[in-house]
Amino acid sequence: MAKKKTIDPKDDLKNQPVPEGEHLLVVDNLKMYFHTQDGVVKAVDGVSYTLDRGETLGVVGESGSGKSVTQLTIMGLIDMPPGKIEGGDVRYRGHSLLEMSEAEMQQIRGNDIAMIFQDPMTSLNPVYTIGRQLGEGLRLHRGYTKEQALKRSIELLEMVGIPNAEQRVKDYPHEFSGGMRQRVMIAMALACDPDILIADEPTTALDVTIQAQIIELMQEMQKKNGNAIIMITHDLGVVADVADRILVMYAGAPVEFGTAEEIFYHPMHPYTWGLTRSIPDPVIDEKHPLTPIKGNPPSLVNVPKGCAFSPRCPYATDKCRTEKPGTYTDANGHYSRCHYSSDPEFVRKNAPENSRTRAHAAAKAAAAATQPAAPTTPVTEGGEA
Ligand SMILES: Nc1ncnc2c1ncn2[C@@H]1O[C@H](COP(=O)(O)OP(=O)(O)OP(=O)(O)O)[C@@H](O)[C@H]1O
Ligand code: SF4
Ligand SMILES: [Mg+2]
Repeated sequence: MAKKKTIDPKDDLKNQPVPEGEHLLVVDNLKMYFHTQDGVVKAVDGVSYTLDRGETLGVVGESGSGKSVTQLTIMGLIDMPPGKIEGGDVRYRGHSLLEMSEAEMQQIRGNDIAMIFQDPMTSLNPVYTIGRQLGEGLRLHRGYTKEQALKRSIELLEMVGIPNAEQRVKDYPHEFSGGMRQRVMIAMALACDPDILIADEPTTALDVTIQAQIIELMQEMQKKNGNAIIMITHDLGVVADVADRILVMYAGAPVEFGTAEEIFYHPMHPYTWGLTRSIPDPVIDEKHPLTPIKGNPPSLVNVPKGCAFSPRCPYATDKCRTEKPGTYTDANGHYSRCHYSSDPEFVRKNAPENSRTRAHAAAKAAAAATQPAAPTTPVTEGGEA
């Protein structure tokens, strides 16, 4: 695709107004395929969502459902080839990111849209100090001197709860524990006060206490700066009490998108129902045992004909196995890709009992209310994964 210049790289896009009728970020029917020796991997096959300022979007789905590739495509970080954008658009404040040159994307990355990558160890360069890596974005995007960048790096480390920051800024990544490296990644992503923070499974490798602290830290930043957050996770429970809206993905495509309230209280898609029933919740497990979804996600080279979920769906019919479902969108923009989502009787009969989802939300709220606020400083090496 010919790259055409759309903005002056010196312009800070995040300071420009969002055009009227536009969202902060619009992902519109995005398709990213990988052309491999084994065939075409349809990693992202028609993903659409919108994101507004101050909002948190949860992106949920099993391993291999295309969650990371979707966000890496937005960041312009997929190698092409083997990747190829097969269609769709990504607009940030009205500007198409897919049409920008690499030089323009370098201005956007880290400055307007920043990402906390899934694996903090491979994302940090082992041969540079933490301070140098933290300061890099500030020097590039903000024109900081070496001294200014070092001073700000120490502040950022303190902000994310790294004790003795003045000393630790000189350390190398291997001298930090897993949880601390994750905090460094967050500090790095927040360094230039990005408009959009993409957090790819930021808590998977961490224990529950540290998970809560990391999530709280991101929320504190959001409250202060009004930035939008995209939180990627395979666990619907993780985004239950932080996401405003939730995108559920299966086999490279969205199957349901709605507000957290809609996804938890009025889910329309059988895959979302399966994820909901898979949330471990001791409060209600006795009456409603955990019911994992049977089988495995399909190969993205050979996605089943018809509905991709049909081999695992307990409600699949012949129609499901042969015809691709369209998108059913209700009056509020809550959408689902299932042949039967528009049938209220089907949804009423088969969706998880409201009591279960309600109990889940209530249990979360009660737990949050009784827990003292998780400290964000300082964190010790011993308490982390
Ligand atoms: N460079 C690549 N070449 C070929 N296939 C790829 C490449 N990168 C990713 N894929 C494939 O794209 C699909 C989607 O991968 P992605 O990393 O987005 O999944 P995910 O939902 O983030 O999973 P996880 O929860 O495990 O992180 C997978 O089938 C993966 O194997
Ligand atoms: S379209 Fe059919 S197979 Fe797919 S989720 Fe709906 S009921 Fe299940
Ligand atoms: Mg991933």
